[in-house]
Amino acid sequence: TSLQAEGIAAAVSPAAQPQISREVTVLFGSQTGNCQRLASSLSRKLEEQGFQVTVSAMNGFKPNGLKKVENLLLLVSTHGEGEPPDNARAFHEFIYSKRAPQLDHLSYSVLALGDTSYEFFCQTGKDFDQRLEELGGRRLSPRVDCDLDYDEPVAEWFQQVISSLSGPQNAPAIAGEAVQAAEQAEPPDSAYSRNHPFHAEVLENLNLNGRGSDRETRHLELSLAGSNLSFEPGDSLGVYPENHPQLVADIIAAMGWNSDESVPLNKKGEEGTLREALLRHYEITVLTKPLLEQAAQLTASAGLQALLAPDHQQELKAYIQGRDLLDLVQDFAPWEVPARSFVTILRKLPARLYSIASSYNANPDEVHFTVRAVRYESHGRDRYGVCSVHCAERVQPGDTLPIYIQNNPNFKLPANSEVPVIMIGPGTGVAPFRSFLEEREEQGASGRTWLFYGDRHFVTDFLYQTDWQRMLKDGVLNKLDVAFSRDTEEKVYVQHRILEQSRELYAWLQEGAHVYVCGDEKHMAHDVHSALVTVIQRESGLSPEEAVAYLEHMQQEQRYQRDVY
Ligand code: 2AM
Repeated sequence: TSLQAEGIAAAVSPAAQPQISREVTVLFGSQTGNCQRLASSLSRKLEEQGFQVTVSAMNGFKPNGLKKVENLLLLVSTHGEGEPPDNARAFHEFIYSKRAPQLDHLSYSVLALGDTSYEFFCQTGKDFDQRLEELGGRRLSPRVDCDLDYDEPVAEWFQQVISSLSGPQNAPAIAGEAVQAAEQAEPPDSAYSRNHPFHAEVLENLNLNGRGSDRETRHLELSLAGSNLSFEPGDSLGVYPENHPQLVADIIAAMGWNSDESVPLNKKGEEGTLREALLRHYEITVLTKPLLEQAAQLTASAGLQALLAPDHQQELKAYIQGRDLLDLVQDFAPWEVPARSFVTILRKLPARLYSIASSYNANPDEVHFTVRAVRYESHGRDRYGVCSVHCAERVQPGDTLPIYIQNNPNFKLPANSEVPVIMIGPGTGVAPFRSFLEEREEQGASGRTWLFYGDRHFVTDFLYQTDWQRMLKDGVLNKLDVAFSRDTEEKVYVQHRILEQSRELYAWLQEGAHVYVCGDEKHMAHDVHSALVTVIQRESGLSPEEAVAYLEHMQQEQRYQRDVY
């Protein structure tokens, strides 16, 4: 029958065929690089199918050009409280503005990346999907919302959009290929990637905080020897952690399971012991609504169903906050479910991303990163950051860690090493700037460098202090401003130092300096942004709106880049 179908298609004269445009625009909004990588992978596949593809970051695309686009594929992630990535902000604002054109001629589809443990799951993707429809667009295929483990849904979306663009007569053949192709969503630079991590030997694991500090920040050095992996300053390291062995033991005991019984480790059908599965393969420290919905089918307790009722959304949100799988199994017993069925409702344990703290050129075959141990109490029990406490407590030199490199195209030194750079990185946010400065030193770069650093106490919390001092002495670092927040009565933060140095900072901006911000998103990055606007306004005489536009323009030109979390 497929032969017959082909015969029919071939017999139709070209003029009689429905006119499907072979031009496709692929736009992405990407913070950590995932959507960008997927967009280039999708574009390659479309080109293989004979499409003419234009691929661009949203901030590199003239929004008025939308009027001329017939086929739009849009890939975007969501951050924090439902916010777009930095390079999607302006475009997001544009399509909600009065300037947005009518899009009756547009066919489109949206791929949304997100995390079901956040309330505003995939919100930015949902916004675009809804707004493009309101403007008159027609969906080529439904939006797909992806959780952290996105490979499968991404492959399905690739398949759907390619077959709807190709027209029904071509669909079956293309569909098969698309699935195959989407599986290699990441082009193999090295044999190792997110789906095939390299087991890197740990060379060093040091506490950077001094005795008496209330913080513990580890500096780890790993060997990349034999991996063929390399990276650029600004890239991130993906690390697959292990869950806390005590938490694993407590869950198994609470359920009355046997830690040696065999269970599936993943969807591919590999098997292992229950203990191994909960240690290394499944997420057990985060509760999500989809998890609770599935768990409700497995317990005899009516409490979980009640919590999931539509009029209990606030209670559900409050319950999920700060609780883990042990709370769930204790609070909603009795369970009548074998371990091997239960584990299938858990999410895959995701890797954690850390900004790389070394330059590959300065330390070939090594990668350094900085991780602050997260320990706190909630709901009457001690809780631990999975990866940070694993690194702090259970990783010694000689051990290995499964890792991969995540390119971050949105956090890169200027191509021209004469361009001055201003780096703002309190706490562990300083990590990538160690990489930047090592790289500039290695290049013998002449561009000036300025670092703003802050933490709690000068004596115990000055991360990499000796490195900065040496770099100052050697002229690699030209200016260092520090803000220790808990050494004085009044809190001093990096943004206070920025404001104090307003005149000089603006002079650097006028000379073309690039500005980089790394670290806490919710408070620090927001306050630093406001401080930069104030500096620009004060020193330039621009209006507040013009000062905002000045910074937005810098962002557009990639002269203002952020790596915030
Ligand atoms: P604090 O904990 O004393 O409030 C690194 O964590 C440093 O960032 C700490 O000194 C911390 O100060 C500081 N910090 C906290 N909130 C901040 C904000 N909104 N802007 C800048 N720095 C902040």
